[in-house]
Amino acid sequence: MVLFKQLASLSTLLTLFFLHLLLVDSQILETPSPPPDPTSLVPNILNFIDQRLAQVFPIIQTFKNTITSDPRGVTSTWVGPNICNYTGFYCDNPPDNLTATTIASIDFNGFQLTAPTLDGFIDQLPDLALFHANSNKFSGIVSPKIAGLKFLYELDLSNNLFSGAFPTSVLNIPTLSFLDIRFNSFSGTLPPQIFMQTLDVLFLNDNNFMLTLPNNLGNAPVVYLTLANNKFTGPIPRSIGKASSTLIEVLLLNNLLTGCLPYEIGFLKNLTLFDVGGNLLTGPIPWSFGCLKKVEQLNLARNFLYGQVPEVVCALGNLANFSLSYNYFTKVGPLCKMLIQRGVLDVRKNCIFGLPDQRSVRECMAFFLIPKSCSHPALFNFVPCQIQHHWTKPQERTKSKRHLLSYSALSRNRVVL
Ligand SMILES: *[C@@H]1O[C@H](CO)[C@@H](O)[C@H](O)[C@H]1NC(C)=O
Ligand SMILES: *[C@@H]1O[C@H](CO)[C@@H](O)[C@H](O)[C@H]1NC(C)=O
Ligand SMILES: *[C@@H]1O[C@H](CO)[C@@H](O)[C@H](O)[C@H]1NC(C)=O
Ligand SMILES: *[C@@H]1O[C@H](CO)[C@@H](O)[C@H](O)[C@H]1NC(C)=O
Repeated sequence: MVLFKQLASLSTLLTLFFLHLLLVDSQILETPSPPPDPTSLVPNILNFIDQRLAQVFPIIQTFKNTITSDPRGVTSTWVGPNICNYTGFYCDNPPDNLTATTIASIDFNGFQLTAPTLDGFIDQLPDLALFHANSNKFSGIVSPKIAGLKFLYELDLSNNLFSGAFPTSVLNIPTLSFLDIRFNSFSGTLPPQIFMQTLDVLFLNDNNFMLTLPNNLGNAPVVYLTLANNKFTGPIPRSIGKASSTLIEVLLLNNLLTGCLPYEIGFLKNLTLFDVGGNLLTGPIPWSFGCLKKVEQLNLARNFLYGQVPEVVCALGNLANFSLSYNYFTKVGPLCKMLIQRGVLDVRKNCIFGLPDQRSVRECMAFFLIPKSCSHPALFNFVPCQIQHHWTKPQERTKSKRHLLSYSALSRNRVVL
């Protein structure tokens, strides 16, 4: 686009040149001056309230010149030495000098800016702590140089046009705690190193990630994990149980995950939302799920699960939505029947004869003719916690007001924490 602009200005110059020749016959024209050097755009250094702002001024102006579309006109405010007043830029005192003023955060959410790359921009703002750019049209790859940003802790590149492999440069930012790259076109595998970071939030949904989930998935202290709407294959790693004191919401829906539900999921004592709908999972529901005391939303719909729905799961007091539709379950006990009546448990299109809206006998027979098995079968009926065998009204039921964060990550807009 820079080239295009130069060409455009060149053709303007040529037109002027010929006009000039026509009008003023024998005059000698000066050669056109070269494009201005960005540093020559720097206003008097004394105008900046801090040296650090003077340093980033040419970086911002150079980036501004690469923007090819700005429907809301935000870049028109990016003029002059008052960088802290530019729309989208926020100043603060950097941790290494509390009397200095610097660009600490950038919020371009919803600006709809188009630029071919962020390379040479955010990686050159050394004090940047937050970069939020939901719903723009930034593309290219994520610069490896962002690894040099020593204060960066929130990176939101969601709903842009980024592509290529997982941006491994983020693996070298020790301060990073929030990574949101959902709704882009990233592809390839997920590097296991991502689960060695101290991330709280990891939103990778709606990309083209594929192949198996790293075995060390449960090693990171992630609280909100959203890997939905990709092409992940293979099993849910058993290590997920290691994240027992941190994981609160897990969205794995609409992938190609196979195998049986690991018993270790039952260790996730803080889990409130678990959604693996629309995968290729098989086997029964481990009774360990009866230990998910805080779970409110449990979606296992549209898989190949079978067996009896464990009564210990239906006894969970906080369960507000338990979806098992489009599986091959064959039996429900009295507690589960009560949940069906209350509209909490959905068992449509299973093989539970006697209940309405089930699969045909033929379909069920065909499914059960295929031999199936899960490894560690003894674990499936083992309950690793103290449980109640009857449904009790939970004391601190938080159901009505609770905001489930991760489901909002499934729409393109920014996620409000
Ligand atoms: C920058 O913004 C502040 C706060 O809104 C305002 O007081 C100040 O006048 C602005 N400065 C300039 C030069 O626009
Ligand atoms: C901290 O920043 C202020 C303002 O830019 C500057 O005058 C001062 O020299 C800096 N201190 C150090 C130790 O760099
Ligand atoms: C998980 O729950 C325990 C109490 O059961 C609490 O101390 C801890 O802070 C919770 N973890 C998170 C990440 O909220
Ligand atoms: C329950 O969860 C399923 C699967 O996520 C969803 O389709 C359904 O709308 C939910 N029902 C209610 C009442 O929230």
